[in-house]
Order: sequence, then C-alpha cells, then structure tokens
Amino acid sequence: MQNLNTYILAIESSCDDTSCAVMKNRQVLSNVTANQHIHAQYGGVVPELASRDHQKNIVPVVHAALKKANIELKDLHAIAITRGPGLMGSLLVGISFAKSLSLALAIPLIEVNHLQAHILAHFIEDEVTLANGFPQFPFLCLTVSGGHTQLVKVNDYLQVEILGQTIDDAVGEAFDKAAKIMGLPYPGGPLIDRHAKEGDPSKFKFASTKVPGYDYSFSGIKTSFLYFIQNNVQKNANFVAENLKDICASYQQHLITVLLRTTKQVIKDHSIKELAIAGGVSANSELRLQILALEKELTIRTYLPKFEYCTDNAAMIGITAYFKYQKKEFSGLDMVPLPRMIL
Ligand code: KG4
Ligand code: ZN
Repeated sequence: MQNLNTYILAIESSCDDTSCAVMKNRQVLSNVTANQHIHAQYGGVVPELASRDHQKNIVPVVHAALKKANIELKDLHAIAITRGPGLMGSLLVGISFAKSLSLALAIPLIEVNHLQAHILAHFIEDEVTLANGFPQFPFLCLTVSGGHTQLVKVNDYLQVEILGQTIDDAVGEAFDKAAKIMGLPYPGGPLIDRHAKEGDPSKFKFASTKVPGYDYSFSGIKTSFLYFIQNNVQKNANFVAENLKDICASYQQHLITVLLRTTKQVIKDHSIKELAIAGGVSANSELRLQILALEKELTIRTYLPKFEYCTDNAAMIGITAYFKYQKKEFSGLDMVPLPRMIL
C-alpha cells in the first residue's frame, strides 16, 4: 500500500550548526539547531572544533527534534543528510550518523546538496507560503551565504542552471571579514545589519571590481575595506568607534548594490518574472527591503525565505529530500562527503 504521508528525518552538519528536522511531507514538524558559540572568539569557524561539537550535539539534537515532532523512529520513511559542500570533518559526523540510522531502521538514505537545499527552502509549506504562493518555475534565485554567492535559474525542483557566481570570496565572507576588521565577533553579518539600521548609507564610498558576465568578486572589496579602516585609524585612533553605524550602513549598502546590479542585469537579459533569495545573507534586513522594492521597479514577483530558513537549518535538507524521495533518488551506504560539491 502507498504511504499516505512521508516522514523524513533530516540532518545538516556542513559547517558549525548541528541541525535536525522532522518533516511530514512538505511541512516542518520540528527544526532544532544547536549553534556553536566557541568560534566567536577565533573570528571564524575552526574546522576541528566544529566537528568535535557536532559529535557532542548530534544525539541530543536528533532526540529533541523527534520529541518536538512527536514522532518515533519507527514512523520514519527516510533519513536525509547534507553530502556537501562544507567542511570535511563536519560533514563526516552527520553522514556517519545518518548512515547508521538508515541501516538500523532499514530505510533509505537521501543525500542532499546544501546549496540546492537553501533554494528549495522556499517550497516548505506553512501558513505564510500557503497564503503567498510558491515561486513558479523557472525562477531566478540569488543564493548569498558565508560560503557561496550564486545566481541560479531554477527550472524545476531538482533541475538548476548556474548563470553567475563569485570568482573568489562569498558575500557572507565580505560581511564577516569587515566585521572582524572592526573588532566585532564572528559571525559579523548580523551585527553589521543591526548597526547599519541607525547609520548613513551614503557617508562612505568603497571600491568594487568589474567582473565579466554575471559573475561576482568580493575579495577586492574586502581589501579596499581593510585599507579604508587602516588609513582612517592612522589619522584618528577612535575612527571605528566614532563612525561604526555609518561605516556599517555604507559598507552594507555597497555590498547590496554590487549584488543587485548583476541580479537586475540577469532579470533583464533572461526576461525573469520571479526572483527568490536564499542563504544566510538573505536574513539581511536591508537586502530584503531592496529585493522587495524590485517588485515595483521591475514588475516581477519576489520571494523572501522565513528568517529561520535563511541560515543553515535541517528543514531545508528535509524539503529537498522530500522531492528526491518522490523520485526514489536514494544513496548507498558507500556515499562519502563531498566538501566541494557543486550544484
Ligand atoms: O547559509 P549560512 O548559514 O551558512 C553557509 O552556508 O555559509 O550563511 C552564513 C552567513 C554568514 O556569513 C553570516 O554573517 C551571514 O550569513 N548572515 C548575515 C545576516 N545573517 C547571517 N549577513 C548579513 N546580514 C544578516 N542579517
Ligand atoms: Zn548554508
């Protein structure tokens, strides 16, 4: 007999968050994440510490997700896990755990590409998405995270085309590195967002690099920010403290301008009617406002993920696995992590 409902337990452990979700079809029954605070003092994720913390967190996080969902292991139909991209040690912890669980329960293992999952988070069913509707294929997705910056044409749930991407650093790194230069803790993106709210976005100007096609480059912007701070601090030791809000607002605006310039070009050239954003940086309040404003400016529809599905979470792995489950796209127990997995 066909299953009426599909229950999937999904795990995400690609970087520094250990997350587990239980899905009932396209609905999230639970989505529990343990954040690792240990990295803040180092100004970035320390891979060895991240994998050790995943080992500590994974069992309690899975228990908590099952309990919150009120689901028992015997009710599950599949185990989903991030295969990559990500940190080797972090991925290994999640993959080993997921394999053992799928073997013990004799249910399929489903590998998920983390980048695809950020995009498919838009197809999670909840009161908001059911009221507003889901993106219609084909749509353009601007994926902006700590590790990636991509413009992706999404033709179907599991069929995507990369139109452009960063040739060096990700925009999330450009946020985090600038924050570190100003002495703010990791991850600095949310802090820049917060300070920028009270600052003047036109106060300071930054350089940008011209890149051919629809690609991005953020490494030169990071360096220009470093020189900007160094030069000003030489003249006034309190420059950062005295101008923090304006620096954050101006730098954030610069990054958004760079992101949207190419996005708008793609929308024009490819006659795009629907635009979504995904990934950790899509939590940025000013980016969200400026994406929304494109609805009127370009007569398109835009889609912003719920805050809880912007940064890394297992619900996005679960929704992707749901679509793969429909197609019986299962993995063998010989599946290995792919730290540089591409879309
Ligand atoms: O998607 P994500 O959780 O992990 C990766 O797959 O990389 O993204 C993390 C990134 C970090 O660089 C973090 O600073 C950034 O997302 N981020 C933000 C905001 N919230 C998270 N950047 C700017 N503004 C925010 N509100
Ligand atoms: Zn991510």
